[in-house]
Amino acid sequence: MRDLTFDMTQFLQVRDLVIRRNGQALLDVADLTLDGPGPTLLLGPNGAGKSLLLRCLHGLISPDQGQVVQDGSPLNASHTARQAMVFQQPVLLRRSVSANLDFVLKRQGLARRARKLRIAELLAEGGLESKARQPARSLSGGEAQRLAILRALAMTPETLFLDEPTSALDPSAVQMIERMILRASARGVRIVMVTHDIGQARRLAADIVMMQGGRVVEHGPAKQVLDAPESDASRRYLSGALVT
Ligand SMILES: Nc1ncnc2c1ncn2[C@@H]1O[C@H](COP(=O)(O)OP(=O)(O)O)[C@@H](O)[C@H]1O
Ligand SMILES: [Mg+2]
Repeated sequence: MRDLTFDMTQFLQVRDLVIRRNGQALLDVADLTLDGPGPTLLLGPNGAGKSLLLRCLHGLISPDQGQVVQDGSPLNASHTARQAMVFQQPVLLRRSVSANLDFVLKRQGLARRARKLRIAELLAEGGLESKARQPARSLSGGEAQRLAILRALAMTPETLFLDEPTSALDPSAVQMIERMILRASARGVRIVMVTHDIGQARRLAADIVMMQGGRVVEHGPAKQVLDAPESDASRRYLSGALVT
C-alpha cells in the first residue's frame, strides 16, 4: 500500500455550482471547500443532492454553472485520474475476484510479477484471500463491496468517493468496510463519503457536510455538526424528523 502523508495543498473546492433540470436547480452550492484530510461525510435526506455533488466532484457531471476546483485549477482529467469512486451497488466484472483486481492493475501498466504481489496485498487488505478464484458475481453483498473498494484502492487514488457503500449491509460487513476506509484514510487517501447512517458519520467523519434541497446547509468538524448543529435543517435531520 502507498504510504502518503496528506498534502495540504490538495484541496477540493466548489464555487457557485448549479445543476438544473427542467428549469429547477437540483444542486446549488455557492461555496464548499474540502481542505482537511477528512474523512468528509456527506449527510442529508433523500434527494438532498449528495450523489449529484459527489458526481460533480468526480467530474462525472458537468455543472450548468460554476465549477469544481482542485489545487487551484478547474477540475481536469489529470485530477479525476487520481480519484476513484465506489457506488452503493458494486459494479464488478464477470470474472474471478483476482481478475477484477488484475484488470485495474494491468491498465496501470504494472508488470505481471508486480501485479501478483499487489493482488495478494489487496486481497489481504480486504480479507478476501480465500476468495481469490471465486467468481466476483458470486460474492456476498459485503464481500462484493469490499472488492469494489479494493479495486478503487488498486488505482492508488488521492481521493476516494464512496456513495452509501454500506447501506445494504449487515453490521459486521459494515464494520469491515469502515475499517478499510479508516485504514485508507490513515494512509493519506482523502475520503469523501455519503451515508445515511449517523452512527457511521460519528465513527468515521473528521468533518461533515450537511445537505438539504440541493444546498449545503452546514459544514464543520464532525463533533460540532453532530452535537451542536448550527442550522435548523441539520437539527431536524439529526433528530430524525421527516425532512422534505
Ligand atoms: N439526471 C437527473 N435528472 C433529473 N433529476 C435528477 C437527476 N439526477 C438526480 N435528480 C434529482 O436531483 C435531486 C438530488 O438527487 P441526488 O443527488 O441523487 O440525491 P441524494 O443522493 O441526496 O439522495 C433529486 O430530487 C433527484 O430526483
Ligand atoms: Mg444518493
